[in-house]
Amino acid sequence: DTFAASQYKTSDATSFAHTSARERWPIIITQGIDDVHRSLHGTQDEQALSEGKWVVSELAKLKYEVQHDRELTPIPDDGERDIEAYNNELKARGNLKWHSVAWLYAECYLYRRISSIFKQTSKWRSYDLFARQKMSTFKSSRPAVLELAARYKDIVTELEQKHTIQGAKTQEQLEEAEKVLFLEMCEICLWGNATDLSLLTNLSYEDIQKLQGSEARKASEKNILVNDLSKAFSILKAAQKQGKKERRVDIVLDNAGFELFVDLILAGYLLASGLATNVVFHPKSIPWFVSDVLPADFGALLSALAAPQGFYGTLSDEDKHAGKEAAPLSDTENASLQFLFENWSGMHAEGQLVLRPNDFWTAGGSYWRLPKTEPELYEDLKESELVIFKGDLNYRKLTADAAWSPTTPFTDAIGPMGPGSGIRVLALRTCKADVVVGLPEGEDERIKATAGGGGDSGARKWAWSGKWAVVQFSDGKA
Ligand code: F6P
Ligand code: MG
Repeated sequence: DTFAASQYKTSDATSFAHTSARERWPIIITQGIDDVHRSLHGTQDEQALSEGKWVVSELAKLKYEVQHDRELTPIPDDGERDIEAYNNELKARGNLKWHSVAWLYAECYLYRRISSIFKQTSKWRSYDLFARQKMSTFKSSRPAVLELAARYKDIVTELEQKHTIQGAKTQEQLEEAEKVLFLEMCEICLWGNATDLSLLTNLSYEDIQKLQGSEARKASEKNILVNDLSKAFSILKAAQKQGKKERRVDIVLDNAGFELFVDLILAGYLLASGLATNVVFHPKSIPWFVSDVLPADFGALLSALAAPQGFYGTLSDEDKHAGKEAAPLSDTENASLQFLFENWSGMHAEGQLVLRPNDFWTAGGSYWRLPKTEPELYEDLKESELVIFKGDLNYRKLTADAAWSPTTPFTDAIGPMGPGSGIRVLALRTCKADVVVGLPEGEDERIKATAGGGGDSGARKWAWSGKWAVVQFSDGKA
C-alpha cells in the first residue's frame, strides 16, 4: 500500500500501539491460557488432554516472545490458505520485532498466530478461547438487553401489524418517525461497540452496564464528533421510493454479545420498516481481537434468547463473585426476549438475514487492498445499498491505520474504498485508537485540551477510551 501518511507503530511512544504491545497483549494471552486451563479441568480424553497442554505451552511461549521483544516468526502451516499472505508480508516487511512493528499488521498477526496453535491440533481445532468471556459479558448486559427488547417488541409489532409508528398520522409524519428511529437504532448500534472485551483490561462490569443504558446514550450524543447518519438514511429511503425490489444492507460485524444483539436490533428494524429487504452479516472466521463475532456466537446468542430464564435468570461468574443474587425474569421480560428469538430466527430462516464469512476480514492488511486481493468480495459489496462497518478495528482497516492529519477528508483516507469504488461505506466507530480523520479544523486540539485528552503530551489520548465517536459516510461515486 502507498499512503500519504505512515502507519502507527508499536515503537511510537505517544501512540496507543505502544501500550497495547507492552501491556494489553500479554494480558490477553494470559486470559487465553486461563481459559484453556479451565477447559482442561473437565477433559477426560487423553489426546485432548495432551494437545491442550501443548496449546498452553505454545501460548506461554508466544507471550514470552511478545514481552521480550523477540522477532515475529513465520506462522506454521495449519492447512489454511491465508497463512501464505501473512508470511509473505512478514518477509517483505523485513525482520520485525514486537516492540517496533506496524501496529495493524502485528495485532492481526498475533490473533492469527494464536489461531494457528489451535488449528495444529485435532481436538482443539475449532476451539474459541474467548467464547467464555464473550458469553459472560453478554450475561452482564441484562439491564440494557431487557430495556431494548421491550422497545423493539413494541416498535416491530406496530410496524408489522399496523404498518405505522406510534403517533404518525400522515405519510410525512411516518417518514419523519422512521428517520428518528433509524437514527436512534444506529446510535444504539454505535455505542454498543464502546464495550468491547479487548478494552476490558481496564473497565469494570459496572462501568459497562452504565455505558449501555438509554440515559447514557442520550448523554453521549454530544460525543459524536461527525455524524453522517442522515445521509445514510436518505440513501435507503431513495432506493425504497424508487421501488427497487431487492435492497440489501451489509453489516461488517465487530463484537459478539451485546454489540451483536444491537446489530440484530438494527437489522430487524431495517427489515420491519422496509428500509431494506435483506441484511447480510459479515462475521470473522477465527477468534479475533478477543470479542469479535464468529458464526458460533450468533447461534449462542439465539440459544440464550430461546431459553431466556435459564440464561438471564442465573448469574454469571463475575456477578456471583460480586456477591449478587439471581433475579428471575418477569413474565413480560421473558415474553419480550422470546419475541426477539422468534423474530430473529424467523428472519434467518426466511433468508432475509444471512451470515457470510470470508477470510479477508481476518487478513493482516487494510481494506485498501480489497479490490486487488479479494475481487469477488469487492463485487459482492457493490451490490449492497449500504455497507456498515462497525467498530474501531474496521475503522483502522478502512483508513490503513495511518497517522493522517485529523482534518483529512474521510473519503481520501479510505483510498480505494472511497470515491469511484462503487461501495457506499458507513463507518460507525467509537474511538479506541489513534487514527481519526474528517474532523473540523481545531477539533482535535479542542478535545486534547479537555481532561484526559492528552494535552500537549503529543498523544491523542482522548481517542483511546471509546468515549468519543465518529459516524462517517462515503457514497462511492467517482
Ligand atoms: O484500541 C484497542 C483495541 O483493542 C484495538 O487494538 C482495536 O482496534 C480495538 O480496540 C478493537 O475494538 P473494536 O472491537 O471496536 O474493533
Ligand atoms: Mg472487536
